[in-house]
Amino acid sequence: MKRSDRLARLVRAAARNGIVIPAFNVFYMPLIKPICDALKAHDTLGMVEISRIEIQKFEVPSISAAAEEYRKYADPKVTALHLDHIPVIDEDGLEVNWHPLIEEGIQSGYDSVMIDASRLPFEENVEITAEVVRMAHTEGVLVEAELGSVLGHETGPLPPYEELFESKAGFTDPEQAREFVKRTNVDWLSVSVGSVHGAIAGAAKNEAKVEARLDIERIRQLRDATGVPLVLHGGSGIRLEYVREAIANGIAKINIATDIRQPYDRVLSSGGSIEEGQKVVFETISDIIVNRYGIQGSASRLERLITSQ
Ligand code: 13P
Repeated sequence: MKRSDRLARLVRAAARNGIVIPAFNVFYMPLIKPICDALKAHDTLGMVEISRIEIQKFEVPSISAAAEEYRKYADPKVTALHLDHIPVIDEDGLEVNWHPLIEEGIQSGYDSVMIDASRLPFEENVEITAEVVRMAHTEGVLVEAELGSVLGHETGPLPPYEELFESKAGFTDPEQAREFVKRTNVDWLSVSVGSVHGAIAGAAKNEAKVEARLDIERIRQLRDATGVPLVLHGGSGIRLEYVREAIANGIAKINIATDIRQPYDRVLSSGGSIEEGQKVVFETISDIIVNRYGIQGSASRLERLITSQ
């Protein structure tokens, strides 16, 4: 069995059964341990994820160094490793030499990689994503791509949130998504349905995020059009009633960064130790698992679902 087969089945079972797989971003290497520990403590299937931003703008030394650190704490029954946002054009509008980064992810043992060509025209997004799918699938690695635009990482202020939500500017189009998935053979798709990424620069980086809403009807249409598990970026700070509806309607993975980075930053900037920061991250993730998503025990439950198929 290829190394991605089991994960692919777990992800599809999660999407079908209204179970979400949380994916936590690693801004600093010491975050890897409490993420894995919390997933193990609650028997919850979840992901440790690293994106290019965390290497360029925060304190992760490299894609392969993060993989090595991850392996110290990983338990394949409950944890998986994902390479988040490798952009083709980055949040500052610069072209990225993405190919060696994806290659490094595949070679250093990531279970899943994300190519983000969403800032390019549709045809180019299709072409590059299909190329990454070919590279990754040969090695048994899953691929996530993005269609539509999830704003927030760019420097400078966001358009007013309510305006953004009402206009649905940049939201993923279901018919385009159908064609995209068919032509690329991507395993899971990040969609724009109302969430925004937490800021990573300037004063906004430390401020509370806007309480985003989600277009649940659009999520349903995207699920029906694509037939693949959907991914929600910008998972921090979304109103809970929307998150729960989204999970019931096809969102199988939620990316969470700001909700764990900010508490860790606060501990360290007020003179706390790394261990104290790790403890806060463990508690925050436990709260997300138990009180926000109610997914304690999901690892065993998903395992049972795929073995009884
Ligand atoms: P938040 O910072 O809003 O949780 O977004 C995380 C994310 O989507 C990373 O890809």
